[in-house]
Amino acid sequence: MPDECVDLIYLDPPFFSNRNYEVIWGDEAEVRSFQDRWEGGIHVYVSWMRDRMMQLRRLLKPTGSIYLHCDWHASHYLKVMMDDVFDRGNFLNNVVWLYGLGGSSDRYWPRKHDDILWYSKEKDKHHFQATRVAATSQRMKGESKKSPDYWDIPTINNMAKERLGYPTQKPEALLQQIIESSSRPGDVVLDPFAGCGTALVVAERLRRRWVGIDISPTAVELMRRRMGRIGSASISVVGMPTTVEDLRLLKPFEFQNWVINKFVGTHSPRKSGDMGIDGFSFFNRYPIQVKQSEKVGRNVVDNFETAIRRNGDTAGYIVSFSFTRDAREEVARARLSDGLNIKLVTVADLLIDVPDLEDAAASGGILFAEPPLIAPREADARPSAEELLNSALRDADSN
Ligand SMILES: C[S@@+](CC[C@H](N)C(=O)[O-])C[C@H]1O[C@@H](n2cnc3c(N)ncnc32)[C@H](O)[C@@H]1O
Repeated sequence: MPDECVDLIYLDPPFFSNRNYEVIWGDEAEVRSFQDRWEGGIHVYVSWMRDRMMQLRRLLKPTGSIYLHCDWHASHYLKVMMDDVFDRGNFLNNVVWLYGLGGSSDRYWPRKHDDILWYSKEKDKHHFQATRVAATSQRMKGESKKSPDYWDIPTINNMAKERLGYPTQKPEALLQQIIESSSRPGDVVLDPFAGCGTALVVAERLRRRWVGIDISPTAVELMRRRMGRIGSASISVVGMPTTVEDLRLLKPFEFQNWVINKFVGTHSPRKSGDMGIDGFSFFNRYPIQVKQSEKVGRNVVDNFETAIRRNGDTAGYIVSFSFTRDAREEVARARLSDGLNIKLVTVADLLIDVPDLEDAAASGGILFAEPPLIAPREADARPSAEELLNSALRDADSN
């Protein structure tokens, strides 16, 4: 991106946790349980952030400002780094987001806030228009028209309408406060760790232009659909996996999400591996098994037959990079003698079209302007921390 092309940056990076796991579709506590896996510790994390911060500073216009969302894990280290990169004199404030939810403890004052470090690029040049927190608690309603530097905004709970199930999703009201006060209509807002795209959706609604970046294709696909849902046209998406080679490099859970997304499917309510069923297709509701491997053989087909029978189905899809001849023979046998209709689908096939959606089209079926958002995994279907770790280690071995 060119120098000085952005008016406002908001970032909510993974803090001091292993970045491999930040993208897992699951529950926050699970993701956080890998907290201490930044090899080399906090200093490696801070210098990783510093490299990114230097780039972000380069992108910011002289009239721009940047909000860095963090919490007690690393806020004190990040502030020293930010003072250095942006200059201490450009520090504007440490906004406190009071989110309410969370545990309590008999041992210490419970943690109920995040810190948002706010810096301008140049002294006294940044745009600012004071606003008032839109969704605020009863307690703050009586206060002045302008917000103080602590914002009482409820976090996304299980009942929240805007909840997408993405771990660490932030409330739209929080982003509204930042974007409305620190940019104008037509300005460019950048979120380089965009997650499920909260900042982008709010920017779009407030008629700002925007750029979002995320390392996770699952997140990017989710953002794309979320933007489609609010009627945003002409979005350009770059860097998504488009070839078999790209797909080979995905983390196992990213790969599984990619396949289920292709089928516009739903995740299995049970953990993968439990029953050999990872999800269900959109149109036929057939079970899908996903294997991120080559030469998937007869034993996998055998097991899948058992799994789909146990589930009361007579058809299903197995997706992998390639299948052995044995596997194809077993599929033919199962069709003739047991009446089971199993389709072996290669990833290369899926890049061209999706059998289930072809069936839909053939029956006069469905046409999506924008496919529905994929629902998050049920709690029971989420991998445990140990399973995630094992799957990543296996992945590292095979690479
Ligand atoms: C805390 S979440 C952001 C949540 C977001 N604010 C929202 O409301 O949905 C952090 C995001 O950073 C992404 N991420 C992690 N490492 C990254 C990297 N090196 N580059 C870009 N994105 C990264 C993760 O995939 C994750 O979606």
